[in-house]
Amino acid sequence: MTLAIIGGTGLTQISDLDITGQQTLDTPYGKPSADYVFGEMNGKKLIFLARHGNPHRIPPHKINYRANIWGLKQLGVTDIVAVAAVGGIAKQMAPGHLAIPDQIIDYSYGREHTFFADNLEHVNHIDFSEPYSALLRKRIIQAAHNADIMITASGTYGCTQGPRLETIAEIRRMAQDKCDLVGMTGMPEASLARELEINYANLSVVANWGAGIVPGEITMAEIEKNLQVGMSKAIALLQAITLL
Ligand code: HPA
Repeated sequence: MTLAIIGGTGLTQISDLDITGQQTLDTPYGKPSADYVFGEMNGKKLIFLARHGNPHRIPPHKINYRANIWGLKQLGVTDIVAVAAVGGIAKQMAPGHLAIPDQIIDYSYGREHTFFADNLEHVNHIDFSEPYSALLRKRIIQAAHNADIMITASGTYGCTQGPRLETIAEIRRMAQDKCDLVGMTGMPEASLARELEINYANLSVVANWGAGIVPGEITMAEIEKNLQVGMSKAIALLQAITLL
């Protein structure tokens, strides 16, 4: 297994990673968000990519998801743990909480979302009934158990377009659709990984309550504060994954 971690908002670099190298890649789809960083954690090799660039400067709808995933495939990656900051919709998804979703609803639009577009010999429709790798999810859930880290082991991730946050009515509709979490980067990342046959799972870190779940505006200060707590738990979980 060659493991990659894609880091989202609040995880531009991993201080616990012993960095052994770094590589700039170009792809047929353009430039990935950042250099691929090679490192070791608990003696296990892994590759890290900052989804929003390093420093963080690429908004969710401008990320070159195809280049990012293509580059990882090029580097021989077989498994991706995609860390992402999200808003909480379901009751248990309080700020600072971690979740490993098992379903997705995609509300995003206008993103380059497939490798199967040009010069095709035949049209390919990937199965996406289960959008995340069951095996990789199981490993992450096991690691959380081993390290005594509280997670919610399922949930539906709703992917919005961003970069703005949602309206109260939009979150109300997403709750009716049975979304538990709301984020901006879960798609097309997950389906692109499936197209290239890479095992992919999402580690959601709740940064705030979705709009209108609790009274008041959502502030960046609140998001940053909760992400500090959540991301330190996420890093502990990544550590536990490398110990499996
Ligand atoms: N909505 C969408 N994406 C997010 C949120 C949110 O409330 N918080 C962090 N990422």
